[in-house]
Amino acid sequence: MQIFDTHAHLLDEAFDEDRFAVIASSPEKGIANVMEACCDEAGIDRVVELVHAVPFFYGSAGVHPHSASEWTSATGDHIIRALQDEKMLAVGEIGLDYHYDFSPRDVQKRVLDEQLSIAHQLGLPVILHDREAHGDMMDMLRAHKDGLKGIMHCFSGSYETARECLDLGLYVAFGGALTFKNAVRPIEVASRLPADRLLIETDCPYMTPVPFRGKRNDPSFIRLTLEKLAEVRNEDIESLADTLYRNSLRVYELES
Ligand code: NI
Repeated sequence: MQIFDTHAHLLDEAFDEDRFAVIASSPEKGIANVMEACCDEAGIDRVVELVHAVPFFYGSAGVHPHSASEWTSATGDHIIRALQDEKMLAVGEIGLDYHYDFSPRDVQKRVLDEQLSIAHQLGLPVILHDREAHGDMMDMLRAHKDGLKGIMHCFSGSYETARECLDLGLYVAFGGALTFKNAVRPIEVASRLPADRLLIETDCPYMTPVPFRGKRNDPSFIRLTLEKLAEVRNEDIESLADTLYRNSLRVYELES
């Protein structure tokens, strides 16, 4: 069984003490590949360095809505430069976060708009973050639907929104939140969507699945999300894992 953790943050300070031990132990726990999702401009060059140090890692470059206020006139070129690298596969993570509102909403929207344009210009997939901003997010994606492709990460919306994401050319990713006790809506969505557009991820060090919720997450915990997804879809875990792995290669354009 091969598992692709399609969204992780091993460069987070939560891994400063044991980053390479965690990474080194991942393959023996079934992790075949990891996408290191970039969060801010300072992280771009660190992601490039990491993915060249670890053969089974790939990276993205982009500015998270939390850091949107830090966007400068040079940031777009920095992202474009990093994405010339063959192991840098996507623009992300980008989006809107109206839960924390760490950057003003008009700034979040402008920075998302710029990065959706960069993805279109480069022909690359996007990794999207949408927290409590479904309306504005879907409006912006509709405005950028020409050539749009990528992932709605940590999906938390309704079944109807998920269907619209699929219609816009996106895949939908589920993480540890699928195992939480209050996960009624994500479970409904995850059980109804077509298997060929689903992905799994950890978003580590966050979103640790039950029964380890509250502890630091790492790629090995993705198995609990995989098991939950197989259970709610009433699918064989091996064949579901195989489908998810192939979806991951397809969305990140790694198919040979
Ligand atoms: Ni993330």
